[in-house]
Amino acid sequence: MCGIVGAILKEGAVLRGMIEGLRVLEYRGYDSSGVAIAGPQGLLVQKKAGRLEELENVLAETQFPDGLAGIGHTRWATHGPPTDVNAHPHTDTDRTIAVVHNGIIENYLELREELSASGSRFLSDTDTEVLTHLIAREALEGSLVDAVLRALGRVRGHYAIAVLRPGAQPEVVCARHGPPLCIGLSKEGAWLGSDILALIPHTRNVIFLEDGDVAELKVDSIVVRDLEGNLLERTAQRVDWDAEQVGKGSWPHFMIKEIHEQPDVLAQTAFHRLDDESGDVKFEEAGWTDEVLQGVERIQIVACGTALHAGYTARHLIEGLARVPVDLDFASEFRYRDPILVPGTLAIGISQSGETADSLAALRRARELGARTACICNVAGSTMVRECDAALMTHAGPEIGVASTKAFVAQLVAAYLLAIRIGRARGQLSADEGRVLLQDLRLLRPKMESLLSKKFLARMIEIAERHRGVKGFLFLGRGINYPIALEGALKLKEISYMHAEGYAAGEMKHGPIALVEAWMTTVVITGHGLLAEKVRSNIEQVRARGGPVIAVGADRESLELADEAIEVPDCNEWLSPILNVIPLQLLSYEVARLRGCDIDKPRNLAKSVTVE
Ligand code: G6P
Repeated sequence: MCGIVGAILKEGAVLRGMIEGLRVLEYRGYDSSGVAIAGPQGLLVQKKAGRLEELENVLAETQFPDGLAGIGHTRWATHGPPTDVNAHPHTDTDRTIAVVHNGIIENYLELREELSASGSRFLSDTDTEVLTHLIAREALEGSLVDAVLRALGRVRGHYAIAVLRPGAQPEVVCARHGPPLCIGLSKEGAWLGSDILALIPHTRNVIFLEDGDVAELKVDSIVVRDLEGNLLERTAQRVDWDAEQVGKGSWPHFMIKEIHEQPDVLAQTAFHRLDDESGDVKFEEAGWTDEVLQGVERIQIVACGTALHAGYTARHLIEGLARVPVDLDFASEFRYRDPILVPGTLAIGISQSGETADSLAALRRARELGARTACICNVAGSTMVRECDAALMTHAGPEIGVASTKAFVAQLVAAYLLAIRIGRARGQLSADEGRVLLQDLRLLRPKMESLLSKKFLARMIEIAERHRGVKGFLFLGRGINYPIALEGALKLKEISYMHAEGYAAGEMKHGPIALVEAWMTTVVITGHGLLAEKVRSNIEQVRARGGPVIAVGADRESLELADEAIEVPDCNEWLSPILNVIPLQLLSYEVARLRGCDIDKPRNLAKSVTVE
């Protein structure tokens, strides 16, 4: 899952814009980075293992020259460890071209043998270098774009690539088959990037390349072809994200900035869609009509990571409010387990990025099996949005912190809206019931804000200080808050590297209770209705065995039983996950901060997993 940038400009210098682009793409991978510039005397390449700052330091120390065209890369290692040599860009033996690549070349071993036999010298352990030699060999004559087309004809696998050839007229070509790539024209020239975040400082008019597209970037035009070389029409879409949203402002980390944006995210995702008159929601996107939803017999949700946790909550909401049966699976399991889909299945993918390889593959599989496909997604123009029959956009704005927070809350809000829409379309909810649910949602914003007050934050820091040194954490929840237990544990382990497990509270006695002791903290999310009492007895069971308990939620009696109480405002049960998750996000953040972890770029993780 690497990040790619590139540009070709009329005048000026390309390096600064590329480094800024790489900085916003670092979430895609951050174990090494590099740039190549087309200089008057040929290719200039600098690459460095470690974070982007390491590369920036070397560029500054060596007074690395600038140029009118270049490509750059931030890497998340797949083939070969993160070293200077394995970092991209890669060059051919005679340094005639440079290539950056995101993805996997599956037949690289056989190609490597063939190319070695005909004189190519390989320096790295990467699969990408094969592509470099292959394109260079084809580029001995003719244009770079023709060479790329011929070379790609020999390659099996997934790629987003950018290729640079210096010369009197430098050439920049990029291609996509799998991982995302977008391009855009600005007044200064043409830009390419793995996602729109890298492009929006230069242009808001973006072309999202499709699989099989090969684009040639020129200073005043972009030419897109298919793999056979036929010209294609690709129109630019206007992107409504602001360049400022991509910055951290005065916040120490993107994660805490994004946690604080959540009350606004609620408004952005929902408020323009609420229609009190009909007690229903109105989606601006097509495909969510009464007619379509009345024909749905079953829903199959597929997602990964945090988005899957939103899926669990969506299952409760849709089954509870709309009475449509919902199945749910890890996208990575669904795609390989030969699933059975009944006629009338609507497959819904949930994804922040819309580019997660397993989620895309799972939706494609569902379509092959006859399902209609839809998605809940944050990125307009992403592959998932383009491939699905219907999309429901979450409007959370760009999320940069690798640990997802505001995108998750936006997914929960979207799921609530969707459940109301399906419930209304199928007559399961009356207009009056709908109106009450809409009003509850509006009332949620000040409640979310109260969980971000200075006083509340100070309390979270105190609790984090007391528990940062324990052996591990157990997160327990039931019903609609079981996924919040999963999410609380995931957040903590992702950014603080502490062991944390999320469990359905009712399952505690079937295993996790064996872990309970003084150095294992149990975080319990309190329940509603019938489940409140059951959760209370979980708290007592843990405390009876000497385990410290932090209780989070609105049930006063549960809070009183715990060692630490984190009181969350009351709301309807369907919305409680949105409030309960905020203290858990803050707890993870504070524990990770106190432990000195790199919060926005946790080790080994990448925000968007575009490879299997
Ligand atoms: C990675 C990220 C998670 C994210 C998951 C799914 O694992 O680190 O934060 O939840 O991918 O990503 P998606 O973009 O499909 O929501």
